[in-house]
Amino acid sequence: MIFGATGDLTRRLLVPALINMEREGLIHPSSTVLGIGKDAGDDEMLRAGLESFSAGHFGEGDAQRGEAWARLRPRLRYRAGDFTADEIYTQIAAELTGNAVFYLAVPPRFFGDIVEKLADHGLTTEADGAFRRIAIEKPFGHDAASAKALNTRILSRVAETQVYRIDHFLGKETVQNIMTLRFANMMIEKLWNSDSIDHIQITAAETVDVGTRGSFYDGTGALRDMVPNHLFQLLSMVAMEPPISFDAEAVRDEKAKVLRAIRIYEPEEAAANSVRGVYTAGTIGDRTIPAYTETADVKPDSTTETYVALKLMIDTWRWAGVPFYLRTGKALTVRDTEVIVTFKPVPFAQFPRLRNAHLPPNRIVIQIQPDEGISLDMLIKRPGIGVAVEPAVMDFRYAGLFDIGRLNGYETLIYDILTGDQTLFQRADAVEAGWRAVQPFLDRWAEGGSPEPYAPGSLGPDAAADLLARDGLAWHDLVTR
Ligand code: BG6
Repeated sequence: MIFGATGDLTRRLLVPALINMEREGLIHPSSTVLGIGKDAGDDEMLRAGLESFSAGHFGEGDAQRGEAWARLRPRLRYRAGDFTADEIYTQIAAELTGNAVFYLAVPPRFFGDIVEKLADHGLTTEADGAFRRIAIEKPFGHDAASAKALNTRILSRVAETQVYRIDHFLGKETVQNIMTLRFANMMIEKLWNSDSIDHIQITAAETVDVGTRGSFYDGTGALRDMVPNHLFQLLSMVAMEPPISFDAEAVRDEKAKVLRAIRIYEPEEAAANSVRGVYTAGTIGDRTIPAYTETADVKPDSTTETYVALKLMIDTWRWAGVPFYLRTGKALTVRDTEVIVTFKPVPFAQFPRLRNAHLPPNRIVIQIQPDEGISLDMLIKRPGIGVAVEPAVMDFRYAGLFDIGRLNGYETLIYDILTGDQTLFQRADAVEAGWRAVQPFLDRWAEGGSPEPYAPGSLGPDAAADLLARDGLAWHDLVTR
């Protein structure tokens, strides 16, 4: 059951994912998808609306997808209703038997209300072996206090085992692969600590501007939109201890511990270890980008940031003294999400004529998107007489070996909800720990000041480069492949 069935997420990601699952035979033929939305209409309105949105998802040029959509189409139904009134829940209760997933693809102000109504009408009660599960989209909370309050409200009505908090980054193959890279490869994990690693960078750069999302974005900003959720998922995968098993609870225990170990800054430290930016008017290629403050539904005197860079410390034995630099922003030069692990230099450069010369460090570049892959910067001898040391890149690209481009990540997440595997979903304590770690920045910024301007198509504000330069470092070059 999808609450928010006429919304953007349903059209762009959820229904296409269901089609991909149907194509793979992963949806039971007797299951129904009931869409619930505020717009008046009937089943046919929903089906036709989806088809007119993007023919590509629904079969054009792809016979298998077309057949899958043809099978799924008649099982898609629609009910118009007010999420906060009883009527729609009374109707559902009269019809619903067996297993159900309630997917909340709605603005966050409805999360608490919908869960309460579902519970009031007995819809979340698991009886006779049937499951009743709730999937909740982001943003989960607006700050540490509101995230805790929302958890308390939801968990007073349903069990944590029924709640699937979505972070769509966890549906990405490359994000899931971080655990495999670390825990299936002896040569990696042995070096994965402060003895060998100098620092870690996590970047999620986007070329898109805020566009039509002004009313959502202006109350949110880059930090809330990307850091406690998506970037912290990457950070916790990279920094977690090996779990005692791959059970959902064991994995989520370790991820939560990392988030709890992020150093909570004092206000002055928060100011010194963060940079916020906002894009001005300009162009990226042939796209004209209006200044953020001139975007529709954005206040002209807004101080909301569209870029953020942070330096974080994780206070554990493994990571003592290893800085984690995070950055994300809109309207930047390139779309590039990556994790860069930079190793320490060798203790002594023992090569004739190179004694003590500075050698470039080893690096592992985990390219999350686009052009998913992993590369390793090594040093080699340049062929020829004498010893010349040069960096060489060992490069693995998914595209050369696998076809992962056809899936959008929600297939995995929806499948896991249906089969009851919570590993890739955020547990209440981890969500709250993530918010606690970013709260000092939010508090500090709320005291005043404004983001530093940067030009569209740039790498963000100059101050972000200074954040690393002060530690004798530089951001990894963003790649356009
Ligand atoms: C969303 C944010 O959660 O993630 C967007 O609200 C952002 O602002 C998006 O653009 C990025 O996701 P992806 O999968 O395109 O990297």
